[in-house]
Amino acid sequence: MGGVIQTNAIAVETLSSEEAVLELARLASVIGQANADYHGNDAPSLSDAEFDDLKRRNLAIETRFPALKRADSPSDQIGAPVSDGFEKVTHAQAMLSLGNAFSDDDVVAFDTRVRKFLGLREGDALAYTAEPKIDGLSLSLRYVNGALVQAATRGDGAVGENVLQNALSIDDIPQTISGAPEIIEVRGEVYMSDSDFAQLNARQTLAGAKVFANPRNAAAGSLRQLDPRITRARPLRFFAYAWGEISNPFATTQFGAIEKLRDFGFQTNPLTALCHAPSDMVAHYKSIEQQRATLGYDIDGVVYKVDDLDLQKRLGFRSTTPRWAIAHKFPAELAWTRLNDIEIQVGRTGALSPVARLVPVTVGGVVVSNATLHNEDYIAGLGGDGEAIREGRDIRIGDWVQIYRAGDVIPKIKDVDLARRDPQAPAYNFPQVCPKCQSPALRDIGDAVRRCTGGLICSAQAVERLKHFVSRGAFDIDGLGAKQVEQFYADGWVKTPADIFTLKARFGAGLQQLKNRDGWGDKSAEKLFQAIESKRAIPFKRVLFSLGIRHVGDANAGLIAAHYGRWSAMEYALTHAEIGSGTIWEDLLGVDGIGEVMAASLVTTFQNDNERASIDALISELTVQDVVAADVSSSPVAGKTVVFTGTLSKVSRAEAKARAESLGAKVAGSVSAKTDILVAGPGAGSKATKAESLGVLTIDEDAWLAMIEGL
Ligand code: IVH
Repeated sequence: MGGVIQTNAIAVETLSSEEAVLELARLASVIGQANADYHGNDAPSLSDAEFDDLKRRNLAIETRFPALKRADSPSDQIGAPVSDGFEKVTHAQAMLSLGNAFSDDDVVAFDTRVRKFLGLREGDALAYTAEPKIDGLSLSLRYVNGALVQAATRGDGAVGENVLQNALSIDDIPQTISGAPEIIEVRGEVYMSDSDFAQLNARQTLAGAKVFANPRNAAAGSLRQLDPRITRARPLRFFAYAWGEISNPFATTQFGAIEKLRDFGFQTNPLTALCHAPSDMVAHYKSIEQQRATLGYDIDGVVYKVDDLDLQKRLGFRSTTPRWAIAHKFPAELAWTRLNDIEIQVGRTGALSPVARLVPVTVGGVVVSNATLHNEDYIAGLGGDGEAIREGRDIRIGDWVQIYRAGDVIPKIKDVDLARRDPQAPAYNFPQVCPKCQSPALRDIGDAVRRCTGGLICSAQAVERLKHFVSRGAFDIDGLGAKQVEQFYADGWVKTPADIFTLKARFGAGLQQLKNRDGWGDKSAEKLFQAIESKRAIPFKRVLFSLGIRHVGDANAGLIAAHYGRWSAMEYALTHAEIGSGTIWEDLLGVDGIGEVMAASLVTTFQNDNERASIDALISELTVQDVVAADVSSSPVAGKTVVFTGTLSKVSRAEAKARAESLGAKVAGSVSAKTDILVAGPGAGSKATKAESLGVLTIDEDAWLAMIEGL
């Protein structure tokens, strides 16, 4: 045991930043090992008290040096006990999703976008692979020196769960591979065949156990079993179709890579084809669609990927999807049923959302009993543009409605059968007051959504805001999910976000009240408090996103945080801004990506007394971490404002912009005193003249490429 608790450790207050870096690295490693010993190897190497001391020291250093907090900080890994979950793993490369195409035209548009980005002309050759989109769940298998060491689920794309023990029981997943790079993460889909699914459900029925709605759910339920013996008894399969981190390239094309994966010992899909034009792709799609019913496993579309891996790299990613791939989905499935009732839900921004309660019906293998009705215009037969939808047919309680489902999204109503309508059925009256707090519900001009004006006095809004506050991407507090937040709110323990951080001070001493609640014991309560503590030091962007301000999503919160750098700077600006005029307002609108609607939403929130009291109370509980300026030493263009003009010959405008942004530069559309670099190609006109008069550094495309070379 001894050795890891350095009794001669330097006091946190006196650490230099260099020492802090080393100490944080040491703590991450020691705590990581202790976690593995405790959870994985069932052989604790530290006492609880020693373990807690290390974590406290780690947190204290992070609080003093927020910028040095590691991506794999132990503060963000609140244990992962085998008994109530899997170990969390941060993906070395994010596991992304795919954009969708629904028509042949969408496929042509995809090809056009790719060509444009790469600067290819119509006649230039460009190959794609096309393969079935398997309806299962993705898994990332990490092999080091040929041995399987980790099997991570997708999770939220950034952090998944290690289900290694279960993966080891799947026959299609080799435990060792040869001829592969030293480190390789093989990615693919875990699925269950239709016949295995039918047999499993038959067994479950006999045993009086849970029956699964479809093979996908059965596969997911089986892979995430805590007892690997149960997974072993459920026949799962695996198709490899992609990869994550690799220590060195093992192919130059997508098609070649798939062949290599097969050589390594993986199952790859036999319907993978190489296509040379959108017409080829669509033809392959049609052929796969015809075989769909007899494949023996569920698929929900066809995935196209740019074949050349160098081109894939150049194309890169948007925030959550690659530019070089797309999923061409099969048409949605349809079914008719009756509308029992219309229920109004109140969201975190007060939006009243009508939900259809249906007589349950099976659509594409899934039982559907709810569908979205969007808003009051939609019920009345009006689309977003004010034009009639469903030829103007409205929807009434008791109607026969046609439901459709595409992928995992919430089912929708496509049509209504007037011939089967009860002639006495009255038109639906959309409520004019909030069904939860009775405050007036109003519609802004041009907005289809009616909103409760109750703000924080509306219990529905308050609870939804709290749920958002603790969600993934926001504070993401382990052990505090939607269910617990509802419970705490109902008990009056947590009404606003700040209350979460005073929970321990108020209830920590005895823990009696919490302890007696369903599912809460000493251990889980203590763990919850630890999880809350670990989130006190938190990046600016996350705090802003967590507030759930209308129009301020994750990406926008990032833009605002990057612009102001410090919370206090933003707070000052938003408190003093005047909507529609003045330098603060202009400065806010000057942020690329921030429009008037969002800016006004921010200012209004920060100037509303109730909202402000709630925000300030929260901030006083936190250490908000400033935005650390990008590392200028490694990127000469980080933080610089760059403008492209004229013709670029080596890369398209879109590629140049994406590349510059990935290196930390801001790309603007026009030259001003704030411009640092103008990249001017042939034909540059007024922008070059203006840059010259302002003394802005002007370079040509080759000089630009030389400047960013090797980054
Ligand atoms: S490629 C960077 N290929 O679809 C994207 N995905 O909607 C890499 N999926 O999360 C994914 N079959 O779980 C790819 N042949 C296939 C697939 C496939 C199913 C799933 C995968 C992914 C989701 C995206």
